[in-house]
Order: sequence, then structure tokens, then C-alpha cells
Amino acid sequence: MHIINCKQFKIEDVEEIFRLTDKQVANKFIYTATRKIMASLFYEPSTRTRFSFETAMYKLGGNVISTENAMQFSSHTKGEVLEDTIQVVSRYADVIVLRHPMRDAAAKARDYSRVPVINAGDGDEHPTQGLLDVYTIRRALGDIIDKKIVLVGDLKYSRTIHSLIILLNLYSNLTIHLVSPESLLLPKEYKDLFKKTNKAVEWRSLRECLKNSKPDVIYMTRLQKERFVSEDKEALHEAYLSCYLGPEEFNMSGDAIIMHPLPRNDEISPYVDSSKRALYLTDQIDNGLAIRTAILYKIFSK
Ligand code: NCD
Repeated sequence: MHIINCKQFKIEDVEEIFRLTDKQVANKFIYTATRKIMASLFYEPSTRTRFSFETAMYKLGGNVISTENAMQFSSHTKGEVLEDTIQVVSRYADVIVLRHPMRDAAAKARDYSRVPVINAGDGDEHPTQGLLDVYTIRRALGDIIDKKIVLVGDLKYSRTIHSLIILLNLYSNLTIHLVSPESLLLPKEYKDLFKKTNKAVEWRSLRECLKNSKPDVIYMTRLQKERFVSEDKEALHEAYLSCYLGPEEFNMSGDAIIMHPLPRNDEISPYVDSSKRALYLTDQIDNGLAIRTAILYKIFSK
């Protein structure tokens, strides 16, 4: 089983992963990965994703070989292409967890690997983040169906948003509010995935959105400056101020849970952090570990 993108999932697959995750949350880790090796091959910075995968592997009794900065410390600097690296690493490891900035990096790796590949974020998607986000919403609110979900920030480049949108559209009767500057709109290829039963509403400002809706979830993202191609960073930062969740916006947000994939820059005021509704430093972290443990469990219990 490879995990390449969220388009590969049917709702039954997602629910199966969630059932396995419930068991991890109940702390019933079973040593299914004894003597197995996970290679974590990260060509981009990461704290949570890499640590949670590695922690998950250890919890299942397995071992980890790791390069945290493969752009600099792997044979990439000597001109090796990803295809060759994957062929070699898949002769050492039993599973490869790959983070890479390129579009389709995970799919390419799958084509050259002898062992399962898990996409830990590439130029398109971040499927395990999408899964942990939907799982977090489900645990906090009981269900996904009928919910009003506000997605805020860099909807163009945020791969966590792309994966989340795909997974949310496996469910019905959702209203998804899209709040972003004009130049960071959700790309058409993701808008086209909206189910007929789900409604998309676009806003340029979070405050306007909150004045006109009563959301269940507010999902914040940072500006993905490192992915900008020709965008004017300063102009965008200016436009981005209307996506800020400060004390006033927070107090307008009713009972909504507040989420963020992290790292946060300056899009959420620290004022929000101590609220029980803020899940980005708590539930999302715990659920990320549980989801990744469940995925590795599924791979190794086969
Ligand atoms: C995200 C990523 O790398 O895409 N971080 C993460 O894995 N939790 C979000 C981001 O970098 O903004």
C-alpha cells in the first residue's frame, strides 16, 4: 500500500484508517514493525511530520534511518536524481516516507520503489496531514457531514489545503468558505472536485466571512513564500492581513474549532492559543501521531 495522494482514497478507505487510528488513540499499539526499517527521506524542512512518523515507527517496535535535509546531505548534492535514490533506499528500507518540493514527487518515487512509499508532502499534496485534519474535525465535532468549514490563507500553494479539500469532498452537505487574497485563490483543479451537494463560498476577508456565517471549523494556513513563482511577496503580505485571526475575529467566531497545520507565522494571534477551541498545538499533534501509527500498522500487519 502506497500513500501518494488523497485522490486515491474512497470514503471506506478513510474510515478504515480512522478505525485503526481510534485504536492507536486508545493506546493499543501493537508491535507490528519489529525488525522493520523506515527510511525518512526529507528534501524539505519538517518538524512535526518527520518526528511523528519516526515516533510512530518506534512505537510499533521498528527502526528508522533518516536524512532530515536530503537536499544538502544526500547524494542529491552530487547530482543524483530521485529515481536512483529511491531505487537504492528501497533496498535498505521496508517503507519510505518522502518529503519533496516537486509536483508528482511521490508518484515518481512509487514507480521506482520496491517498498511502500508514503508522501509526507510534495508539490501537490500532503495526504497524511489531510487525514489527520479530517480525523481531528470528526473527533472534535462528532461528524463531518453538514459542517461549515472556513479555509483561510494561501489556498493556492498550501498542499495541506489541497489534500483537505479532496477528503472533505468525500462527505456531503458541507459549506466550505474559502478566504484568501485574490492572487492566492484555490486552483481550479481543486475547485472542480467539489461535490454537487457541497457549497463553496469565496471571501477576501476573514472578518467579512465571520460576519456572514457561523462556522464549525476555521482552518488557518501561512503564506507559502518558498513556493511563490512570480508573486510580489510584499503586496501579498499586505493582502494577507485580511486573513488574520486576531482577538476580534476570534471573538466573532462563536464555537468554531481553530486549526492550523503549523508552522504558524503571524496569522493567528497568541491570544487564541489558550482557548479550548484551539486545536493546533494539541489535538492535531496527537492525532497526527495516531494517524501515522495507524498507517504504518496497516502496512506492516499485511
Ligand atoms: C505543512 C507543510 O509542510 O505543508 N506543515 C506540516 O507538514 N504540518 C504546512 C506548511 O508548511 O505551511
